Amino acid sequence: MVQILDGKATALQIKDEIANEVRTLTRQGQRPPHLAAVLVGTDGASMTYVANKEKSSHEVGFTSSVYRLPEATTEAQLLDTIAFLNEDPEVDGFIVQLPLPRHINEQHIIDAISPEKDVDGFTPINTGKMVLGEECFLPATPMGICTLLGRYGIETEGRHCVVVGRSNIVGTPAANLLSRKGFNCTVTLCHSRTRNLAELTRQADILVVAMGKPEYITADMVKEGAVVVDVGIHRIEDASKKSGYRLIGDVKHSEVDAKCSWVTPVPGGVGPLTIVSLLQNTLLAYKRRR
Ligand code: GUN
Repeated sequence: MVQILDGKATALQIKDEIANEVRTLTRQGQRPPHLAAVLVGTDGASMTYVANKEKSSHEVGFTSSVYRLPEATTEAQLLDTIAFLNEDPEVDGFIVQLPLPRHINEQHIIDAISPEKDVDGFTPINTGKMVLGEECFLPATPMGICTLLGRYGIETEGRHCVVVGRSNIVGTPAANLLSRKGFNCTVTLCHSRTRNLAELTRQADILVVAMGKPEYITADMVKEGAVVVDVGIHRIEDASKKSGYRLIGDVKHSEVDAKCSWVTPVPGGVGPLTIVSLLQNTLLAYKRRR
């Protein structure tokens, strides 16, 4: 029988823990942690993510602010906003929502974020520290995956973990974290040029899918009893829903789930943990600054 890695319930539990800690701080007369977000343009998914981050911040008692900049914002203007947030003593951590408009060089922007406020863990300093196993801000989605596996006591030691997708924000750091002490997986990192993808995914004890292709992973690609973590999230039209759409992942759950020992649903799997990781990093940034 497949069991659900319930990201929504786990996220609620951790948010409760954070809220308790914030309550203790504010009762002692300290100001609450502050998470800021920068959103450039009006991409629908990005607006939803930023709104969720703001809502979750308030749920745990953080203060938050969102800098909404027009699509036509220049790289220099965005760098000015980052310089301001780097210096603002009221801001403990901030994120720049990705993707950015094409005329802005993403790496220039990430490089400009102060590592002490980089609660997304995207800067070269935090990435380097992660690879070296030093204390740092871990990127939110891979950290969320690790939290979920950890809280459910999923055995990882010596098991073969196949990560599909090598993005800077999910696949590459997830492969790194799961191979390190604490998890000790044997990791294979697959990507768009991998030749025998199905042959490799079928060997996975733990399969982490972050490829960005709707329902790409089918039952024939998964080993019986595997733990499957689906990081994908896609909106597809569905006239039967009030919103007019529904959410699906990179895994074809209708046929894959029956083969799994554990699986993350979409929605309600990894997504809620990503936001929680950001809150955890912000609380850490706040404590470090005091
Ligand atoms: N876009 C998609 N995921 C993320 C994330 O975790 N952080 C930021 N800043 N942008 C994203």
